[in-house]
Amino acid sequence: MQRKIAVIDDEERFLDLFKKILTSRIGNIEVATYRKAKDALNDLLRKDFDLIITDLMMPEMDGLELLRKAKEAKPNATIIVLTGYPSIETSVTAMKEGAYDYVEKPINNDALVIKVNKALERAQLLRERENLSQIVQGRRFEIIGTSKAIQTVKQLVEKVAPQPVSVLIEGESGTGKELVARRIHLLSPRRSSSFVAVNCAAIPEGLFESELFGHRRGSFTGAVSERKGLFEEADSGTLFLDEVDSVPKESQGKLLRAIEMGEIRAIGSDKPRFVDTRIIAATKKNLLSLAQSGQFREDLYYRLNVVKIKIPPLRERREDIPQLAYYFLKIYSQKLGKNVTKISDSFMRSLISRRWEGNIRELENLIAMEVALSDSDTLRGSYSETTLPNETEFSGNITYKQAREEFDKSYIRSVLARTGWNISKAAKLAGMKRQSLQYIMKKYGIRRDENI
Ligand SMILES: Nc1ncnc2c1ncn2[C@@H]1O[C@H](COP(=O)(O)OP(=O)(O)OP(=O)(O)O)[C@@H](O)[C@H]1O
Ligand SMILES: [Mg+2]
Repeated sequence: MQRKIAVIDDEERFLDLFKKILTSRIGNIEVATYRKAKDALNDLLRKDFDLIITDLMMPEMDGLELLRKAKEAKPNATIIVLTGYPSIETSVTAMKEGAYDYVEKPINNDALVIKVNKALERAQLLRERENLSQIVQGRRFEIIGTSKAIQTVKQLVEKVAPQPVSVLIEGESGTGKELVARRIHLLSPRRSSSFVAVNCAAIPEGLFESELFGHRRGSFTGAVSERKGLFEEADSGTLFLDEVDSVPKESQGKLLRAIEMGEIRAIGSDKPRFVDTRIIAATKKNLLSLAQSGQFREDLYYRLNVVKIKIPPLRERREDIPQLAYYFLKIYSQKLGKNVTKISDSFMRSLISRRWEGNIRELENLIAMEVALSDSDTLRGSYSETTLPNETEFSGNITYKQAREEFDKSYIRSVLARTGWNISKAAKLAGMKRQSLQYIMKKYGIRRDENI
């Protein structure tokens, strides 16, 4: 994986020298140089640099201030400071402020290379440790739900993640398409490289290719500096093409080529470059029918759709609602420093019966708002209108038996969740015998999710 290094020094000749030494003696790196700390800071906060090397004495913002600000935003950042000679004191201050190491000027090339290699190793270790601990805690990008539909999604995610194939994710707004994409990346061998997400519908007209494949300086009006495309940013990682149905027709051929051959060509450049970028695409539409009606290139459709993951809307898996509600309740109570632990029965009933046009995002936002405004340990839905199941919800294509089953599943889940999955307590709360509760649980396959 290519490692990114930022070097900040107000003297141009030093920057040139650094770039030359580092790129010639250390493999697989990319060096960005800055003469002004202010410009650097903007990028440092936005991008993920593996290593930052900064001079200490600079006009305007000095290196120490840059160090503090970078550390504040990214406590794990690995930073080497450059100190002019008699400044043991400033290097000590810099180390206290969290610098990883310092290099004295005039630079001794060998010492520099050794220190940079060591720092890059540390950065890599930190990144892996962070990813691992998030996986172990199971917190990051956790897909919650025990409905059959979401179980199928989870199984597919685990199966497809380690393989180098494209994945197409289909689902309504807020169903968890990006979550699934990130989870796949995290479970793949690419996890320590970048996950780059781009919303194809949000790219201004005419800029799609420059955004994805990059451009050379001056290749068109407005191309004031060279820009790397997202395919390259995600090299050896994953590129998430959200709303892929919006890729302009005239660019679809180039996209196909990039995916098929890993070959990209920056605008204004005649040299092709090769990248190893995994593509995960998402859409709210039915891409196959767009392909069949000629609005989307069919060959591109098949290239993206090696594996398809369809995420069903929340209203088709209502039995997941209690668990999701409690999951978000826990997250937002923690985040907002509140001690809310329960959801009232009537609020839960109302949650289960809503239309959820905005799917899980809407549920998450609603719980977040209720938690933020609540001043007791129980959410009662006081701040969101609590309509009871309206007729249209259940009318039409659902039988009484199905509706009743839905209710049973949701109700039992909510009772169990409230009692921390203690079956005796739950049975008592529900006013039923322990055996009856166990019978219902078995009948519907209701089990506690391991990660909650
Ligand atoms: N099964 C799930 N378990 C836990 N959280 C979920 C689940 N599905 C979605 N979420 C959460 O719901 C929110 C919306 O999900 P996400 O952004 O992935 O949806 P999306 O399908 O990409 O939506 P859009 O089409 O609007 O971009 C996120 O905060 C996500 O973490
Ligand atoms: Mg999304």
